[in-house]
Order: sequence, then structure tokens, then C-alpha cells
Amino acid sequence: MNASISGFSKLTKSEKIDWIVTNYLSNSETAKQTILQYANDDDKLQQLHDEFIENTISNYYLPLGVAPNFLINNRLYAIPMAIEESSVVAAASKAAKFWLDRGGFKTTVISTTKIGQVHFTFSGDFNILKKYFNTVKPKLIEDTKAITCNMEKRGGGILDIELRDKTKAINGYYQLHATFETLDAMGANFINSCLEQFAKTFKTEAETILEAPINIVMSILSNYVPNCLVRAEVSCKVEDLAEKNIDPSTFAEKFVQAVNIAEVEPYRAVTHNKGIMNGIDAVVLATGNDFRAVEAGVHAYAAKDGKYTSLTHAKIEDGIFSFWIEIPLALGTVGGLTSLHPLVKIALEILGKPNAKALMQIVAVAGLAQNFAALRSLTTTGIQEGHMKMHLMNILNQFNATNKEKDVIVNHFKNNTVTHSAVVSEIEKLRR
Ligand code: MEV
Repeated sequence: MNASISGFSKLTKSEKIDWIVTNYLSNSETAKQTILQYANDDDKLQQLHDEFIENTISNYYLPLGVAPNFLINNRLYAIPMAIEESSVVAAASKAAKFWLDRGGFKTTVISTTKIGQVHFTFSGDFNILKKYFNTVKPKLIEDTKAITCNMEKRGGGILDIELRDKTKAINGYYQLHATFETLDAMGANFINSCLEQFAKTFKTEAETILEAPINIVMSILSNYVPNCLVRAEVSCKVEDLAEKNIDPSTFAEKFVQAVNIAEVEPYRAVTHNKGIMNGIDAVVLATGNDFRAVEAGVHAYAAKDGKYTSLTHAKIEDGIFSFWIEIPLALGTVGGLTSLHPLVKIALEILGKPNAKALMQIVAVAGLAQNFAALRSLTTTGIQEGHMKMHLMNILNQFNATNKEKDVIVNHFKNNTVTHSAVVSEIEKLRR
């Protein structure tokens, strides 16, 4: 039976491993070996990883790949991507090469502000609350000076605090809705620290002024960042969209149709956007950023008008094909993992040590490129041809194919369609 335990976090790492393999894994010796195999021999490096989280028992690897040939605003980039899905890096590289010969990607950062809220309840008169808020607002800002002074020196900080009446939604519910500029930091800690100080000051000052108390429910940043927005675009003459087995204008029209479908049909939009996130998450992860925050914010943005829709758009106008994305991305290039994880440092160096704005543009491009590659396959050959070619190695590894077997089978499938059963039958044939 599965066991429970108290004080697990106090055990040594080796005791934790013993406990988990004994209580939860059937072949405990082999399981233990596997867990230990993924630990780093360099004790210092391993300790760094151990200390990222609690109860570390090993490391969980993802491949780190690089997609070269991205021309962004006339500068060349090789983009690092941490991802397990076979075809993503290959697709990004193909899209990058395609647009390299057609002027590359053009990007602009539209806005960079972030939001945090203090959620509270108050049972008194709103007008009195409003008056109190206006009086206390300078002190709310003043009391955060110790937190904000460094950020302010660099040009960021608190931009505004508003009082929002949410009583139509929930009885007695109000917010301090604050706007921040966090520059090159993702800013979660900065924003949350400011908010907790706002809450403290707001509640304490009210005690001698207001008749009814301020009840703080919580203080937290929002991962919905519609005003931390970046745009990436590609465009070229329709006739320059030459494709195998399809003439450029038919390809352009089918491509725009595919985007239009994702704009109107949520079932398609979710998959369409998932493909975009294949590119975005991979770069967000490689650069040590919070992919859960990005995912949450991006999908909320995709539904901002009340219906989930495509994050990318495309059109043909006066013989020009254009394809673009507008996406909210709260990213950091200082703080967090960016200065701790050795591979994150390498990834950022590969990208030329970008600031947050530059990284937003690179990540948006990775999303657009990924979507271009997916739609290009979907509207021409179908997705499976390329996908299964890349997946071939996974199937071979499932069957513990030797390097020699891999060579023979990869060679065979250069001219044959890859399906799971076809690969299995080739392996069986070879081993007979
Ligand atoms: C697979 O990971 C992503 C795609 O399904 C995206 C799409 O359909 O646009 C290929």
C-alpha cells in the first residue's frame, strides 16, 4: 500500500530516495539506480539544482536544442529551445530558413506594464472609502520606497494605483488595482512585495479613519498581462511563397483560410495556439522564465473578447502575404533562474544577452515561426509526414534499437512513409 509520512522534507536526500523507492516503486533497486543516474557528478552543480525546490531526489532532463537562421529586425539569432516534442526544433529551423530568404521577422514591443491587485472587502459607504483611498494613496507609495528605490533608479516602479469597486460581482468586494513597470525583471517578487506593503498600510491607516474595517483577502500579481504586449510579423510577395507541389497563390490562400478557421472556431484555435506555444514555451523554458505564467496569460489573452480565438492573423493585400502575432509576454532577463541555472546563462548568451524587451520579441518570433511551420505542413503535405519522420527515433528507442539497426531503418524510411506499425515491422524484419 502507498505510505504516508510526516517530516519527509527533513530526511536526507538518500533517505528520501530510499523511502520513495521502497513505498512507491515496484523494482526498487533499478528505480533507485535510474534516479541516481540522473544526478550530476559535480556536487556543487547538483546542490544548485537540489536547492531550486524542496524534496529534490534527482534531475529531470529535457533536450536543449538550437534553431539557427532567425533574422529578426535584420539581426541574426540562433534560438535555444528546451523541449521534448520531436518535431518542434526542426520546424522552427525550417521556418527560420524560409523567412531568412524573404526579409526575416519584424518585431515591436507595444507595451510593458504589469498588474497586481490587493483584494479586500469593506462593508461601509463607497464614497467614504474613495475619499480615504485618495488620502492614503501617497502613503501607499511612500511606504514601499525601500522595495521600489532600486527599480525606480533604473526607470521602473509603481505607475499607478486605482481603487476598483467590484461590488456588482461580489458583495463588499473592492480592489487596489496597481500598475507596474518592472523593466528587465519578470517582476513577480517585486510586485507581490509592493502589494503586501500596500495591503498593510491600507488596512492599518484605515483603523483610525474608517468606521468599518478593511478586510484584506489577498495581495497578488496578475498573470494576465494584456499591456505587456509584443508583435512579430513576416510578409512577402505572394509569388515568393514558392512551395513544393502547390503554386504560391493557392498556398497563400489556403494558409489564410487555415488562420481564419482558427479565428472563428475554438476547437481549432486551441490546437493552433498549442502549436504556437510549442515554440514559445521552449524558449521561455530555455531562458529560465516561468512558462506557466506565460501560458496562463497567453490563453487568457486569446479569450479576451469573450471567445477563444487564434493568436496569429494573416492576410493577402495587393499581392502581399502578411502573417503576424500579437501576444502578451511577461519575461525577465535578470533575477530568478536567469542568474542561477548555468544552461539558462548559456541560452541568454546565445541570444546576445537580451534585455526583457528583446527577449519578448525573440519569443514572439519563435511562436510565429512555429505556427507558420505547422500551417505550412497542414495545408500542404499534412502534419504526419514531417512529424513521424522526427518521431521515428523515439519508436526505435522504444524497441531498444542498436545504432546499426537505427542506420538501416532511418535509411529505409527516407523513401517510405513512417507509421508506428511500418517501423515495428521493419525492426522485426531486421531482427529475424
Ligand atoms: C502539435 O504539437 C502542434 C500542431 O497540432 C499545431 C497545429 O495543429 O497547428 C501541429
